[in-house]
Amino acid sequence: MGFTRVRFNNFRNLESREIRWTPGLNLLTGVNGSGKTNILEAINILSGWGPLERGTKSFSLPTWNSGTTEVQLTGQLDGEEIIKVKISGRFLLKIDDSVISATDLRWKIPVLSFLPNDMAILEGAASFRRRLLDMILSLIVPPYALRLSDYRRGIRQKAAMLKQEKSTEIIDRVLTPLATWIWKMREEVVLLLSDCIKEQDFLLPEKGVFLCLKRGGSVQSENIEEDYNLSLIRNREKERVIKMPIVGPHRDDIIIKTDGKLAACALSRGFRRRVAIALILAATDGVKRKMGRAPVLLLDEVTAELDLEGKELLFRSLLERKTQVFAATAEPGAEDFPGERYTVSDGRVMKNE
Ligand SMILES: Nc1ncnc2c1ncn2[C@@H]1O[C@H](COP(=O)(O)OP(=O)(O)O)[C@@H](O)[C@H]1O
Ligand SMILES: [Mg+2]
Repeated sequence: MGFTRVRFNNFRNLESREIRWTPGLNLLTGVNGSGKTNILEAINILSGWGPLERGTKSFSLPTWNSGTTEVQLTGQLDGEEIIKVKISGRFLLKIDDSVISATDLRWKIPVLSFLPNDMAILEGAASFRRRLLDMILSLIVPPYALRLSDYRRGIRQKAAMLKQEKSTEIIDRVLTPLATWIWKMREEVVLLLSDCIKEQDFLLPEKGVFLCLKRGGSVQSENIEEDYNLSLIRNREKERVIKMPIVGPHRDDIIIKTDGKLAACALSRGFRRRVAIALILAATDGVKRKMGRAPVLLLDEVTAELDLEGKELLFRSLLERKTQVFAATAEPGAEDFPGERYTVSDGRVMKNE
């Protein structure tokens, strides 16, 4: 499963033309600002995910000063289907000229993206770990993305009510089924990841790693519905005082332990990076197990954090999986990279011969 060609039209700084890709590993190299992340972003949009979340928000997708605001991206899949995305304010997604929803497109061509922060998944903010769960669930449970966005909207409303010192009883009742459903889904995906990460033992510390979901604000009751309701009651006064909702999936985390200790504290930096690779591989295997197809991977600057051995382990494992990969790196070198290399320079993409 993957993209054989992608055509960019008026997209960010990329030259408007078509590029052919290999079904295996595609390495994009080029100096900072050349357009590597823009290529990954185009593929992310072509697979139903929309623009990448970057540190600095730059929403203007049409090429600056091009005289037109319409963007078109076209991708051909190895099954020959053609995906077209027209962006002129709104996103219009089509497959073989029929309109398709983003959810259906994600199901058609599963893609997982890993951004520079994901290499610090063990020691970074909880939001990076939630992003991993949400990305996998949005692929393997089609209604998940919509329900998560309904939940987030509800939480914003609840936050506004707490600020205005209003009662949150009604919104809490509306949020209960959404919050408990998301907790159930996340419990399941953490189990899936735990199972798949065991197979990456060549990357893990001797005692392995143990993953579990830490439900946000939970009082740790076994039954999920009961847990949510009890946690709300226990934290009602606290939520009222600090004027912020603190119970629910928006405060979840994944606890990652090794030998009974938190992996972020117990492991050396080198090992933390290896566990991050193991999580990327576990996510890839988990999606393949649930969908019957390996996802395409977008890896943005993730190798910058790895030593030579880490890079070799990552790419060797990906080659074995026959997964299509687009990896971007500003680092020179990579001469012995086991796939196709492309040089990106000022928006121009050239395949290295
Ligand atoms: N709409 C746009 N039109 C033209 N250039 C853009 C647009 N949006 C972003 N850029 C430029 O694209 C360049 C490349 O970005 P990026 O893909 O993030 O580079 P890289 O990942 O190679 O470091 C940046 O210098 C940015 O200024
Ligand atoms: Mg970049």
